[in-house]
Amino acid sequence: MQLKEPISKLNTLPLQEGGRYRPISEEWLGSHAVVLRAYALANETALYTALENVITRAPLRHMVTPGGFTMSVAMTNCGAYGWVSDRSGYRYDPLDPLNGKPWPRMPESFLSLAKNAAEVAGFDNFYPEVCLVNCYVPGAKLSLHQDKDELDFKQPIVSVSLGVPAVFLFGGMKRKDSPNRVPLVHGDVVVWGGPDRLRYHGVMPLKEAYHPYFGNQRINLTFRKAT
Ligand code: SIN
Ligand code: FE2
Repeated sequence: MQLKEPISKLNTLPLQEGGRYRPISEEWLGSHAVVLRAYALANETALYTALENVITRAPLRHMVTPGGFTMSVAMTNCGAYGWVSDRSGYRYDPLDPLNGKPWPRMPESFLSLAKNAAEVAGFDNFYPEVCLVNCYVPGAKLSLHQDKDELDFKQPIVSVSLGVPAVFLFGGMKRKDSPNRVPLVHGDVVVWGGPDRLRYHGVMPLKEAYHPYFGNQRINLTFRKAT
């Protein structure tokens, strides 16, 4: 699986419609959960280049759940650990099971974006060890779940949306709590932590759309402290 355009074509692509960035704004989803609209846009070229490098070294792949289902979202990781699912369960693994090597290093552009977004949301000293890369194509979805494979729930989750729009579901502390539907577009960042850290969340099946960098794909980066 590949990103839409090679790096060499990037600087010929339009930045945003009309060549202007959307302004940054905040939308709170909870006392400690916020959407930072357009927060990642200023660094989109650096993020794209770094992402392409990560995917070249640790290709996107469809993991299998412990129950034996193949996930519709393709995934890879960078950082000291990667989130992995297989028949034996979910875990954070320092090695990529595809090649037995460490995951690619977390690019500086990823790290600074995640730390700065966490700080804006009120979480100082966030130092993510993991960036899970999720790739959605039309129809791919992520069922409601809690992020609870990490050891320290005092650390937030930082989630960066790139490519085509999606509907993010942000629910409550119980699976049956009906979720908010939050449209997320290219450049939006969501941060949740503190009392909101274990809220159920997911992504509705992706609709067909087009983005000049990503084609019909949505890429989501989630930053976590695993240990
Ligand atoms: C996740 O929950 O790990 C990803 C959420 C998203 O793709 O927006
Ligand atoms: Fe999650």
